[in-house]
Amino acid sequence: MNELIPFSKACIVGDELEFVKDSIKSGYTSANGKYTKKCLKFFEEFFNHNRSLLTNSCTAALEISILLADIKSKDEVILPSFTFPSTANCIVLRGAVPIFADIEKETLCLDINDVKKKISKKTKAIINVHYAGISTNSEELRKICDHFEIMLIEDAAQSFYGFDKAGPFGMHGHISCFSFHETKSITCGEGGAIVLNEPSLYKRAEIILEKGTDRISFQKGLIDKYTWRDVGSSYGLCDFNAAFLYGQLCKIDKIISLRSKIWENYFKNLSEKLNVNNLIHNKMYDNLKTNAHMFWILLETKNARDNFIRRFKKNNIIVTSHYNPLHKSPYYLSKFTKKFELPVTEYVCPTLVRLPLFNLLSEKEQNKIYNIVNQILASE
Ligand SMILES: Cc1ncc(COP(=O)(O)O)c(C=O)c1O
Repeated sequence: MNELIPFSKACIVGDELEFVKDSIKSGYTSANGKYTKKCLKFFEEFFNHNRSLLTNSCTAALEISILLADIKSKDEVILPSFTFPSTANCIVLRGAVPIFADIEKETLCLDINDVKKKISKKTKAIINVHYAGISTNSEELRKICDHFEIMLIEDAAQSFYGFDKAGPFGMHGHISCFSFHETKSITCGEGGAIVLNEPSLYKRAEIILEKGTDRISFQKGLIDKYTWRDVGSSYGLCDFNAAFLYGQLCKIDKIISLRSKIWENYFKNLSEKLNVNNLIHNKMYDNLKTNAHMFWILLETKNARDNFIRRFKKNNIIVTSHYNPLHKSPYYLSKFTKKFELPVTEYVCPTLVRLPLFNLLSEKEQNKIYNIVNQILASE
């Protein structure tokens, strides 16, 4: 049997383990410790001095965002159906209503024309998911949000260290949320960050993150004791996870360059073979730089996609599908009656496949992957 090629693999690239040891030895291992401060310094320089907080996941960052946006029962929030359940859960946790918009076939990001059709008097926010480390429409969506005086929350779970012409992804929303889950380009097992592009949101975000208390002000020595101030939960990241994350941030250019090489090889080797009528491939963008988070392919039918996954599995290589459409999920159908017609989402969900992509994927392994794609195409 060939050796397994997994879909993704956590990789140590620098001093992550030394930093974790140092954090534990320091005697302070909960949230807002030494390594959180180091990570936040990195983010503040990277995000043009906008404030940020480390969270224990992107899910936590999204929940904080919805509280900051004051989303209440019966309010509406527009989001793609083609996303992870966390993007919708934060809305329904507040008793609000998810309104699903379609995506564009080329980018798999929100279709602005469909978003515009779905804005109503009840709309309080739009959550824009950056798919596969790319966001093509955040600037335009921010203009729409400003016009209607609603919030733009960027679910940038997959796009940390990607750039558009204005700077790093995550600068257009009022708030942006990132993930450092083990499947992401930069990781600490489970982790996330919330970037607050509106300075007025920062103080309340600190309180929500610390169980509704002003404990962070207490830790900074600004007050004598802390107390319950607002709603909140336990959303912070423990210091040894932050230490691992800091190790990755110190080597971020190396990590992204290793991943980018693999992404570009996939693109070069597969895009010629993947005829547009048969398989639609990722596009190279002039003004955008992906963080090479993911390489996806769309096949013509669900059968072709499932066969593709099976053929790889037979060769001990894990390629995977991605999201099931949320507007057709058991939870949504059991709780809401509003129906959505989202033709691109309904085509993409059953036909999309993602190829293995992690720092240490060797050239030999990449060649094996191209060969299997060739074999599948030849047998069609
Ligand atoms: C678009 C999107 N949002 C949110 C999440 C949740 O991220 P986390 O696992 O950090 O909570 C994911 C997870 O992959 C995601 O793909």
